[in-house]
Amino acid sequence: MKIKDIEFRKFISREKIAEKVALLARQIDEDYKGKSPLFLPILNGSFIFAADLTRQVQVPCRVTFVKHSSMQGASSAGQLKTLIGLQESLFNQDLVLVEDIMDTGLTLTRVLEELQSLGTKSVEIVTLLRKAKAREHAVQPRYIGFEIGEEFVLGYGLDYDGWGRNLQDVYKYTGQGKPGQVGN
Ligand code: IMP
Repeated sequence: MKIKDIEFRKFISREKIAEKVALLARQIDEDYKGKSPLFLPILNGSFIFAADLTRQVQVPCRVTFVKHSSMQGASSAGQLKTLIGLQESLFNQDLVLVEDIMDTGLTLTRVLEELQSLGTKSVEIVTLLRKAKAREHAVQPRYIGFEIGEEFVLGYGLDYDGWGRNLQDVYKYTGQGKPGQVGN
């Protein structure tokens, strides 16, 4: 299948994804018995995964979407980081960050840094996909859907230059064409 200028082929079927999402939800239910987690999906890529996952979770929960933006600024740190969209107080909350894919782990590292000063009770991560490189990263998600290699993927919320988020299965780059810019 051609998306923009490059070829993709089916990699993980919607049935396999659904099975995994149900399994992750059951694990979360088990671990959060008697608690009320606050899910924090990181936009844009996790919107579909988060919608499916949170609808399967049985423990009482809330969901607040956030977007991470980083830009070069004039601050002494050289970088201004912001979690856009966060309205709830995170003080004393059990947070579950919902990520579509962990590649270098940089996004989650930055989000975790930003959450550090907010007095959360606990923070865990659920990611649908984790690339090989991220396995060596210090940030270790508690819940992982699929471990994959270094392939570039799209579908089920993940995009290639803004395209392909609406696909129901996950596809991977075949090596034909040249992948350019990816979104969040
Ligand atoms: P990290 O900060 O390197 O871990 O990258 C995480 C973000 O990069 C994800 O939330 C995705 O938005 C994007 N990303 C990384 N790998 C892929 C991919 O294979 N396809 C689509 N987006 C990706």
